[in-house]
Amino acid sequence: MADSATSAVLSAHAATPPWAQGERVVHIDKLWSIFGSGDNAFAVHQDLDLDIYRGEMLSIVGGSGTGKTVLLRQILGLLEPGKGSVQVLGRPGREMGGEGAASRVGMLFQHGALYSAFSVLDNVAFPLRELGTLPDALVDAAALVKLQMVGLKPEHATRMPADLSGGMVKRVALARALIMDPPLLLLDEPTAGLDPNGSDDFCALLRELHAELDLTVVMVTHDLDTLFALSSRVAVLAEKKVLVTGTPQDVAQFQHPFVQQFFQGERGRRAMAPAPAGSGPAGGL
Ligand SMILES: Nc1ncnc2c1ncn2[C@@H]1O[C@H](COP(=O)(O)OP(=O)(O)OP(=O)(O)O)[C@@H](O)[C@H]1O
Ligand SMILES: [Mg+2]
Repeated sequence: MADSATSAVLSAHAATPPWAQGERVVHIDKLWSIFGSGDNAFAVHQDLDLDIYRGEMLSIVGGSGTGKTVLLRQILGLLEPGKGSVQVLGRPGREMGGEGAASRVGMLFQHGALYSAFSVLDNVAFPLRELGTLPDALVDAAALVKLQMVGLKPEHATRMPADLSGGMVKRVALARALIMDPPLLLLDEPTAGLDPNGSDDFCALLRELHAELDLTVVMVTHDLDTLFALSSRVAVLAEKKVLVTGTPQDVAQFQHPFVQQFFQGERGRRAMAPAPAGSGPAGGL
């Protein structure tokens, strides 16, 4: 136990960990995320460091309210660092917040977030249509390709969000996140609210797309089955920073109350049981 814990710490701090041999897609340096002002100001992140490399499927875990969604929003450029910096594909994350951002980073939001008044097709097409650079027919064609990519049929294109199952809503949201072929995909609780079969199917789809599209994927998840099915690396968010990173197996041995409770409960032990052949995590590098 102690040896494994030590190795997790070493993985977190080694000068050149194995995954650091790829191109660095996200570089977060001493990040402070601060809300409120004056006496009411509070920091969600303090001196948080994290590097994410091309081809990874990195899972971020942490207790509720520890700032996982805030971290994704920082990477997406929707928030300004109070201190420190967030670089995405070599540029400040803040530049992502503007026009064309969807061609660099795709985001699947925690609560689905489809526009209820738009059809499936118009939801998927939305970021591309907003850009205003392509004729409508081409935008529709691109959206149909993306729908097919996430396993939906052309006849689903005219449906309204209220008429979709939970799994279909996730697929539509994923198609929209991918509409501009971004190299980096952020997923906030991608399998939350899905039943075990729906969750397995969505994980299989994510694994396929990760490989086919050469994506770097950053995912927040509470779900251990999803974490073990997909992650090449895990980052634990606690005490306002990234406490440790490493393979799921290494991080599971790390001596910290949150980590032990998260991985060592009944669900953790089940998720860590040997998996059937061919169902391992995405390699990615
Ligand atoms: N726009 C905001 N203004 C003020 N406080 C905020 C804002 N966004 C997030 N926070 C606060 O930041 C903290 C972290 O929120 P965040 O949504 O990142 O948590 P989380 O780790 O994603 O939690 P969960 O697992 O429940 O989704 C919370 O205390 C939240 O209230
Ligand atoms: Mg969240």
